[in-house]
Amino acid sequence: MIEQLDALLAQLDALQERALRELEAINSLAELEDWDVRYLGRHRGELKNFSTLIPKLGKAERPVIGQKINAVKEKLESALETRRQELRDRELREALERERLDVTLPGRALPAGHMHPISRTILEVARIFTRMGFQVVQGPEVETDYYNFQALNIPVDHPARDMQDTFWVVPGEILLRTQTSPMQIRVMQATRPPVRVIVPGKVFRHEAIDASHEAMFHQIEGLLVDERCTMADLKGSLARFAREMFGEDRRVRFRGSYFPFTEPSAEVDIDCILCKGSGCRLCKYSGWLEILGSGMVHPRVLREVGYDPRKYRGYAFGMGVERIAMLKYAIGEIRLFSGNDLRFLRQF
Ligand code: DAH
Repeated sequence: MIEQLDALLAQLDALQERALRELEAINSLAELEDWDVRYLGRHRGELKNFSTLIPKLGKAERPVIGQKINAVKEKLESALETRRQELRDRELREALERERLDVTLPGRALPAGHMHPISRTILEVARIFTRMGFQVVQGPEVETDYYNFQALNIPVDHPARDMQDTFWVVPGEILLRTQTSPMQIRVMQATRPPVRVIVPGKVFRHEAIDASHEAMFHQIEGLLVDERCTMADLKGSLARFAREMFGEDRRVRFRGSYFPFTEPSAEVDIDCILCKGSGCRLCKYSGWLEILGSGMVHPRVLREVGYDPRKYRGYAFGMGVERIAMLKYAIGEIRLFSGNDLRFLRQF
């Protein structure tokens, strides 16, 4: 019996030694779990096999073996825990090393979009007029005949109402606005003087398309109404605008013209930005470039919105945004603006 006991104790020592040696060689958490099952497994672990022998031993030997098994078990369990911790630390260190992040590296450049030349031109014009106290407002692109024509003193037989020029939604009643001027009426109806607004937006005309005409383009309308407002105010503000937009050395010319909703009316020209007035293809050898239409608000228009023309005066103006942009950036083809060709757009 004693020999058998000694043999068992020796086997347990050998088991412990072998297990610890193997543990040393283990290099991954997965292998570690295998080791755990093999030696300490409740089911068929090697230590468990010794426990199943206990009932077969004599009364005196049982506690000796039992204690030895427990001692080996504790030894292995604590060695397992130590090794597990070491491996975890190592894996963490390796992961930190592998996934090291250099936060000082420059970021990856994302391709950033930028503003369309038409939006940019609208913004530049708006900036100039907001500095003069104008507010920017917008209005509907689908309008009624009343706002687009009648209220602006455009009679039924006026050529601007020609079926050729207007996109009708409901013929004779509803249309795509052909100008931003209807917003003059909407703004005046909604407020009392003083009025100072500019209105950028899309307009539509049933036109033959060529290098300078599109069926959809943009305008910026301006309107000022106050108790004291004269043609001198109109000239001063629009000359200021022309010079801020096209250069301080620009010469500005006011040329008598006609619009149904202004009286008197004037078109504003600047000296040609290409030839400086000596005459070239751009200015059609006139030396001048037209940049906008303007005039003193017609008394009939004021009366139409319930403003007393004896008390209030106003001036109005309207410009084509594409035309302004073409002059400012020397672009000879209006269709480039709506063509979505990045080679063109990237230049701005
Ligand atoms: N609405 C005019 C057009 O489309 C432009 C215009 C001219 C607007 C004179 C105005 C103005 O406000 O006073 O041709």
